[in-house]
Amino acid sequence: MLKKLFSKQINMDTLSVEERVALAKSEPIPAHVAIIMDGNGRWAKKRAMPRVAGHHEGMKTVQKITRFASDLGIQALTVYAFSTENWKRPKAEVDFLMRLPVEFLGSFLPEMMERNVRVEMIGNPELLPAHTQKALYDAMEETKHNTGLVLNFALNYGSRAEIIDAMKGMLEKVQEGELTIQDITEECVTAHLMTAHLPEPDLLIRTSGEVRLSNFMLWQLAYTELWFTDTLWPDFNEKNLLEAIENYQKRNRRYGGLKGEETT
Ligand code: FPP
Repeated sequence: MLKKLFSKQINMDTLSVEERVALAKSEPIPAHVAIIMDGNGRWAKKRAMPRVAGHHEGMKTVQKITRFASDLGIQALTVYAFSTENWKRPKAEVDFLMRLPVEFLGSFLPEMMERNVRVEMIGNPELLPAHTQKALYDAMEETKHNTGLVLNFALNYGSRAEIIDAMKGMLEKVQEGELTIQDITEECVTAHLMTAHLPEPDLLIRTSGEVRLSNFMLWQLAYTELWFTDTLWPDFNEKNLLEAIENYQKRNRRYGGLKGEETT
């Protein structure tokens, strides 16, 4: 309580990152943070560099934020790395993006093992090039017993496609008599999504000033707190994540109901 009183009076800018981390950790940390990593192209353009240089820098940000999320005790971090719509980009850019998981997992896997991070993915892996699939499957296999942060890549992911697959899965079970129509509840739909084993995201972050969901986790985000920042993804850092979490911790999540004193 005393800490809460203090934290309301303290100007966060006067605290060190370590002090802010300690304060944040004394409040509920979002279990699942989902991020739409946007602005790589603009970051590169501002520096007269090719777009792919922005993606490469964005990959380094994923490393930085994975480390920090694991230090903070976040349980799951889902990063939107490639959408089903991103295939429309020039082939050279798509090819570059498809090589990033190979580089990322090749260089970062030992550290993720040390940090007890488990790699997972959502999305349809079948259309990914063989080298991308191999890097992901190898990393998922190697880290499958890790019990710390889940680093969940959304790759060739689209939320509507995911929901359609879930519907088909449920309908097949109805046809086979494993489910009845009455069994199709919110919990049942949730259990048929690719994120079935993860908590729903508590916090969604989108960088680069764009304010839309772009077919990302539409079902799962129903009660998620949203945080939009103008910072471009390659510039996003520990302080930015901390700011989003501090803001999340100040919010009063009501899930459509009333909380505490409001109920009397
Ligand atoms: C959107 O920015 C970003 C993407 C489509 C790709 C995101 C990928 C990464 C950040 C790297 C992922 C790393 C691994 C390891 C898979 P944009 O290019 O659309 O930016 P713009 O709107 O400024 O053009």
